[in-house]
Amino acid sequence: MVGAIILEIIVFVVTLIFLVSIIWPCFSLAGWVPTLKKDLKRIAKIVDLKPGQTFCELGAGNGRVSFYIAKKFPKSKVIAIELALPLFIIGKIKEVFGFSNNISFKWRNLFQQDLSKVDVIYIFALPKPLDTKLREKFEKELKPGSRVVSYAFKMKSVEPKLVHKPQNQDKSIYVYEF
Ligand SMILES: C[S@@+](CC[C@H](N)C(=O)[O-])C[C@H]1O[C@@H](n2cnc3c(N)ncnc32)[C@H](O)[C@@H]1O
Repeated sequence: MVGAIILEIIVFVVTLIFLVSIIWPCFSLAGWVPTLKKDLKRIAKIVDLKPGQTFCELGAGNGRVSFYIAKKFPKSKVIAIELALPLFIIGKIKEVFGFSNNISFKWRNLFQQDLSKVDVIYIFALPKPLDTKLREKFEKELKPGSRVVSYAFKMKSVEPKLVHKPQNQDKSIYVYEF
C-alpha cells in the first residue's frame, strides 16, 4: 500500500518535471521546431569551424544541427544546450552511444550557460527573446570576434554581417559578429 503511494508520487513528480520542461521553453525562447534537414549543409558552410574552436547550440532540440556540426568538424568542440527533458534525453542517448565524441549535450537553461569561451553560437529562436535577453547576453559574454548564426529570425537592433538566402523559398540565415 505505502509502496504503491510512493510509486504514484514518483510517477506524478516525473510527469510534472517532463511537462514543465516542455512548456517552459515555449515561453523562454521557442517551442521545438527543428531546423530543416536541407539547410544543414549550408549551415555547416557558414559555421566553418577551425580546429580547436568551440560551437554552442542554444536550445538544441534533438541535436540535429549539433550532431551534424560535430561530425563535419571532428577537431572542434560542440556544446548542445536543451531544457526540454525528452529532447535532452534523445540527445544524451545519441551522445552516449557514440554518434560523435566531440559533443557534449547538457540539460540546462541556456541563460545559465557561460558563453565566454564560445567561438560560434547557433540559435533558432523567436525574434523577441533573440533581440532582447539573448542579445544582451551575447553583448555581455561573447569574446570579440565570436559569431552568432541565427536561423530564420533576425535581431532587428544589430546589423548582420551576412544574410544567407540563396533562393526565394529558402529560410534566411543571419550571421552576427560580436
Ligand atoms: C525552435 S527550436 C530549435 C531546435 C534546434 N535548435 C534546431 O534548430 O533544430 C527551440 C529549442 O529551444 C529549446 N529552448 C527554449 N528555451 C530554452 C531555454 N531557456 N534553455 C534551453 N533550451 C531552450 C526548446 O525546447 C526547443 O527545443
